[in-house]
Amino acid sequence: MATGIPVTSNVTNLRCRECGTETDIGPIHVCDVCFGPLEVAYDEDLIVQRVSRERIAGGPATMWRYADLLPLIDDDPAVRVDLGTGFTPLRPAPRLAARLGLGELYLKDDTRNPSGSFKDRVVTVALTAARALGIETVGCASTGNLANAVAAHAAATGLTAYVFVPHDLEQAKIVASAVYGANVVSVKGTYDEVNRLCAEVADHKSWGLCNVNLRPYYAEGSKTIGFEIAEQLGWRLPDHVVIPVASGAMLTKVHKAFGELQRYGLVDGATPRISGAQAAGCNPVAAAFKAGTRDIRPVKPDTIARSLAIGDPADGYYAVGIAQETGGVVEDVTDDEIVAGIRLLAETEGIFAETAGGVTVANLLKLARAGVVRRDERVVAVISGNGFKTIEALAPSTGATYHVAPSLDDLLAQLESRQEQP
Ligand SMILES: Cc1ncc(COP(=O)(O)O)c(C=O)c1O
Repeated sequence: MATGIPVTSNVTNLRCRECGTETDIGPIHVCDVCFGPLEVAYDEDLIVQRVSRERIAGGPATMWRYADLLPLIDDDPAVRVDLGTGFTPLRPAPRLAARLGLGELYLKDDTRNPSGSFKDRVVTVALTAARALGIETVGCASTGNLANAVAAHAAATGLTAYVFVPHDLEQAKIVASAVYGANVVSVKGTYDEVNRLCAEVADHKSWGLCNVNLRPYYAEGSKTIGFEIAEQLGWRLPDHVVIPVASGAMLTKVHKAFGELQRYGLVDGATPRISGAQAAGCNPVAAAFKAGTRDIRPVKPDTIARSLAIGDPADGYYAVGIAQETGGVVEDVTDDEIVAGIRLLAETEGIFAETAGGVTVANLLKLARAGVVRRDERVVAVISGNGFKTIEALAPSTGATYHVAPSLDDLLAQLESRQEQP
């Protein structure tokens, strides 16, 4: 390497998030001792030697600029899966801020990723780990976006993919998995049932399932949202971040990212308040937060925000704890509020988000009205997926279309009649 730093893996092993027991690196996500979730353990001395703001700035304009802080089981750049994911814009949103009564508001626009959602970040890391572990068939349990991301990245890497989804997904998400050549397995059940089936598949096949047996590596990909927010703010942390929550892994890992930046001396300043955004039709994390507990009671989802429809969230316990500890909240909003949130974002900032983005904006509105997100805060909202995937949610409610004959007279008559309406 040009830096003269030897090429060595920065991962030491996997460590249980509950009891701390260490396990060898492999396609495994549950602790043998206490069944707690496993997480990647890093060689922090090596990271301290390598990482710097300058080295990051000299890296590619993708999430791989943070390679030193991601799990590199085999630190050979040729092993990395890379479709150009990440380093998405952090856009100032003055028009939306004015409508919400907020001051400094930024949107992390993850609608721009290769398959249209932040899930490209987690998949990039998971499939890189899969390759390093010699796995040739990959897959996932998904509410749609993850399936799209696995399908796209597997195609570009020459891996075989099986993506498991609930049968009632949006059509665009099914098509956008199949087009990349992935095997789409449509399961007659909820996401939680799909996930259970995938856990069984992982026991039977030597496949790498991104959010099951590759989960410790996969989840690390979400840290890059936190790294990018800090770097794009000039290596400053914001005051408050609002994050959509399904499994809770994105929220948990953005928090972890801020902690790592502080620990490695890349940023100064206090840990941001972190708030979570859910749909009222699938709100187990918001319900636990409101009840003042970390114990999640699973729910049966019923919401248009299908991408967030995880009734039994794997990281829910940790997500609610982070909101509590940082002074954030976890709120929820109705389906009508979600649609209004999608429209408000599109009309003010020109970003068309999928339902998860509507959840984020609608919650931001609710929290701003309640004075929880404050005018004096530097606020970042994560817009995690593209609206062209979920047009069904909007079709009946968008503004009226003019239907005209190819005639100027007809057009002018219609324009005039509309203007006359109150
Ligand atoms: C677009 C979008 N945003 C947010 C989330 C929530 O992510 P997490 O499961 O990490 O909480 C998902 C999950 O599928 C998603 O698809």
